[in-house]
Amino acid sequence: MSKTEIRDEQTRTRPADPAGTDPTGSDPTDADLPDADPAVAELPAVDLAACVEAAIAAPSIHNSQPWRFRIRDGGVDVLADQRRRLDVIDPSGRELVISVGAAVFNLRLAIRQQGRVPVQRLLPDPAEPDLLARVVPGRPTAPSPALDALAAAIPHRHTNRRPFARTVVPATVVEELAAAARREGAALRLAGPVARGAILGLVRTAEQRLRAQGIYRAELAQWTLPAHGRRDGVPPQAFGPWDALEALPLRDFGLAQPRLDRRSERFEPYPTIVVLSTDGDTAQHWLRAGEALQRVLLVATVHDLAATPMSQPLEIPALRELVTDTAAGRWAQVILRLGYASPTTPTPRRPLAEVLIAG
Ligand SMILES: Cc1cc2nc3c(=O)[nH]c(=O)nc-3n(C[C@H](O)[C@H](O)[C@H](O)COP(=O)(O)O)c2cc1C
Repeated sequence: MSKTEIRDEQTRTRPADPAGTDPTGSDPTDADLPDADPAVAELPAVDLAACVEAAIAAPSIHNSQPWRFRIRDGGVDVLADQRRRLDVIDPSGRELVISVGAAVFNLRLAIRQQGRVPVQRLLPDPAEPDLLARVVPGRPTAPSPALDALAAAIPHRHTNRRPFARTVVPATVVEELAAAARREGAALRLAGPVARGAILGLVRTAEQRLRAQGIYRAELAQWTLPAHGRRDGVPPQAFGPWDALEALPLRDFGLAQPRLDRRSERFEPYPTIVVLSTDGDTAQHWLRAGEALQRVLLVATVHDLAATPMSQPLEIPALRELVTDTAAGRWAQVILRLGYASPTTPTPRRPLAEVLIAG
């Protein structure tokens, strides 16, 4: 049987795959893999750099790209870049670490595409607190069509803030997304009609409260202005149109540059909303949430599903508590709107030279 797991290894710090096997049957588990075999040849640094290129296509809060990478000893260190933390909406760095986790998932996938099992060590390393993960190419492994499809989806995944079609997302696809989250040690739940109404209400409240704060608007301006010529931040072509009925409280990235010519369109009245959660709320859970988020988004992309995170209520502690159920061991990490939409445009990325640090 060919092993198709990209999830390594791993780690004494990370629980074994809670699902045991992927219910889709397409991605069996390889949970008991030993550490990287020193007898296996190292991947050339140029191939590892290509893997980092895949990593930086990941989504990040406000496209802040808060990551750095170090190629050393045949593996890739992944570090948080705290200078890029959003102090107003993300003082704890939770969304920063989720963003880095999404990049780690792409990195693992890219190493798997090089024909090697990615062996991941979750840190912390007290000597270097910003070092969040290290991924090393392990033993050779056979290709997997399911993982090939996920890897092929990396350049096609974009946050889509356009109106979505009034088409139901099939339950089988939602179950596949939930299985993708479970594979990464997280949970994804579909909001029923009552929960959807409640969550949208919280998003609306949060969006209004945030907008009312000058420091929020100033921080948003930092990541949206100047509107052209930068390699990070959210550019105007990614803002999406106005919601003509103001029913769907997407984050308004146009606050700092109101434009009278911005189009207004009708958004879907009953969006499909899912909540990604973890069973704890430490930096390790956040990293895992990011890996799960990216796995979910890539599976969604394979199914031609568009997605928009709606994080505003998770950025206000009192509102996040209302989406979180600590008694049930669930901490909300990301709220996602899912659906079918016309394609959107990619956002820029900083060049490799800016994110690679000397080994
Ligand atoms: C942790 C996290 C939270 C995010 N929250 C929001 C959000 O509240 N609203 C939104 O429109 N986009 C949100 N995004 C999407 C980012 O803005 C997007 O990933 C970034 O601009 C890069 O664009 P791309 O996803 O198209 O590559 C979030 C992304 C991450 C990783």
